Amino acid sequence: MSRTTIPDELSLQARQGLPDDLLALLAKYPRETWPHHANLGELARFWLSRHDMFRELCGVLAGAAEELGEQRIEAAPFRAFFAPRMRFFLQQLEAHHRIEDGAYFPAFMAAESRLKRGFEILENDHEILHMDLLRLREAGSALLAALASDHDARLRSAEATSRELSLFLEGLRRHLHDEEDLIVPLILERGEAGLGIG
Ligand SMILES: [Fe+2]
Ligand SMILES: [Fe+2]
Repeated sequence: MSRTTIPDELSLQARQGLPDDLLALLAKYPRETWPHHANLGELARFWLSRHDMFRELCGVLAGAAEELGEQRIEAAPFRAFFAPRMRFFLQQLEAHHRIEDGAYFPAFMAAESRLKRGFEILENDHEILHMDLLRLREAGSALLAALASDHDARLRSAEATSRELSLFLEGLRRHLHDEEDLIVPLILERGEAGLGIG
């Protein structure tokens, strides 16, 4: 259950970005300044690279399921490609959210109480994404099981899984983008050591 009530218009499914009052630091540090800023330390660079990996891998998995649905790949090579990557994706994304909820968000909220609402929005996203991940895990397992069943069932399951993954990617993209908009400018303003994470 959500620890804080987030209005519907700020839910992951509805919003088009964070409200302006949470983006004052982003106006000071626009995205194009991030890569070369001296305060973007090793931890922040690693964290951003994980976000890129999650976006890319989710797209790759959706594409693989789509290929199976369009009969452009056989069942055996599909299983060898899809199963370990899907498992890795689900495990790593859950672990990523646990670290953010347990360590990073509390440190950032303590350092900058004016952004607390932003972190509550992101925590709410994690709860939504967690439920979505459970559904994705089920869809992935059902698809791997369907590889041994008849042709039509396999194609239907592949299409359903591809659709689930593409939908998930939309929400994930929104979440990662907003999370970066809130956190990276704060890191550039204060430095990693100043936020207690460096
Ligand atoms: Fe997150
Ligand atoms: Fe994240």
